[in-house]
Amino acid sequence: MNKKIIFVILLLILFIPIPFHLKDGGSIKFKALLYEITKVHKINSYSQNGFDEGLIVKILGFKIFDNVKENRDMNSDNFISSNYKNISFDLDKKQVTLNSGYVMPLNGLGTYSLTEDTCYQAVLSALKAGVRLIDTAYMYGNEEEIGRAIKDSNIPREEIFVITKIYPTQYDDPKSAIEMALKKLDIGYIDMMLLHHPGSNDVLAYKEMEKYVSSGQIHSLGLSNWYVKELKEFLPQVNIVPALVQNEIHPFYQENDVIPYIQNLDIVVQGWYPFGGRGYTSELLNNETILKIAQNHHVSSAQVILRWNLQKGVVVIPGSSNPEHIKENTEIYDFELSYEEMQQINALDKGEKHDWY
Ligand SMILES: NC(=O)c1ccc[n+]([C@@H]2O[C@H](COP(=O)([O-])OP(=O)(O)OC[C@H]3O[C@@H](n4cnc5c(N)ncnc54)[C@H](OP(=O)(O)O)[C@@H]3O)[C@@H](O)[C@H]2O)c1
Repeated sequence: MNKKIIFVILLLILFIPIPFHLKDGGSIKFKALLYEITKVHKINSYSQNGFDEGLIVKILGFKIFDNVKENRDMNSDNFISSNYKNISFDLDKKQVTLNSGYVMPLNGLGTYSLTEDTCYQAVLSALKAGVRLIDTAYMYGNEEEIGRAIKDSNIPREEIFVITKIYPTQYDDPKSAIEMALKKLDIGYIDMMLLHHPGSNDVLAYKEMEKYVSSGQIHSLGLSNWYVKELKEFLPQVNIVPALVQNEIHPFYQENDVIPYIQNLDIVVQGWYPFGGRGYTSELLNNETILKIAQNHHVSSAQVILRWNLQKGVVVIPGSSNPEHIKENTEIYDFELSYEEMQQINALDKGEKHDWY
């Protein structure tokens, strides 16, 4: 049905029976009625079909859909949208408390394609700029440099959160893979270990990681490049619910169906390629819509994209070896995108994946 017609019906329902729905219990019946009307027409949430639920919430003053985001703040200009149930994704504290109980920063440094001294220097720059989350992987070949930079920084180990990943080629012998990561990083324990991709023996590898959680050498577990179908198959086979899923997310590839699914499980979503990945960054950073929003807030396009992620409950790990960019990428907490600005960026989704996995 045409969105305008639905809107008019909702307004009629709102104004005709005002005395009815103001009485005790009436508002519940009223909400239920609205919900039934919208459900019949398969209108569930803004993110899935572009229905202007936010406007309705503003007018009605309450939510009418079962799966409406829990922590949207419609009373101020900002628009925070995420689906976590018991996870505190705290933009004031710049951190999230994971389902494992550990606390992780909301912004970090990605280190894909950073190697040797470039990587070492980038990590030092990031730590100097206040970054306390570093993402690496066996596949990046830089765990030793990252461990060395962390030790050389003299920042207390417990203040830094390190994520590494084991690769599908390692899943046949996960114990050796985990031992190698511990040895290369050489920072005592690993804050979080991910399976880099689904692959044969991924359950076996995950169960080995679970043993290291019991021994305290790994604190939290997660997955990377797992989508709805993969999660449905994987989760019943393991004992520890992953604390995080790391997937490709940027304005041209938004995963608006996957993010709510993962967040509803109280699994934190982390996005890779926030700027589209090397080779694609200029197309995204020079996008007219993003540039205009950046001008409105006197910030850079990169900062707008990172902030858009945060307001969707997505942790960011932009990659950079440029100290100025690294610092700029941390300055994303002093401005807020409005509901309309979030919508404008949401409208840029092209389902355009920039890597094969
Ligand atoms: N799990 C997975 O399968 C997977 C896959 C890919 C990536 N990742 C993770 O996600 C991280 C992020 O992805 P990525 O590093 O490949 O790509 P990205 O973050 O989308 O883009 C990195 C590019 O953006 C530029 N950049 C960074 N900050 C900027 C700023 N403020 N202004 C302008 N340009 C800026 C960087 O150049 P400069 O160096 O000049 O700043 C670099 O060329 C990776 O490092 C990795 O940790 C995970």
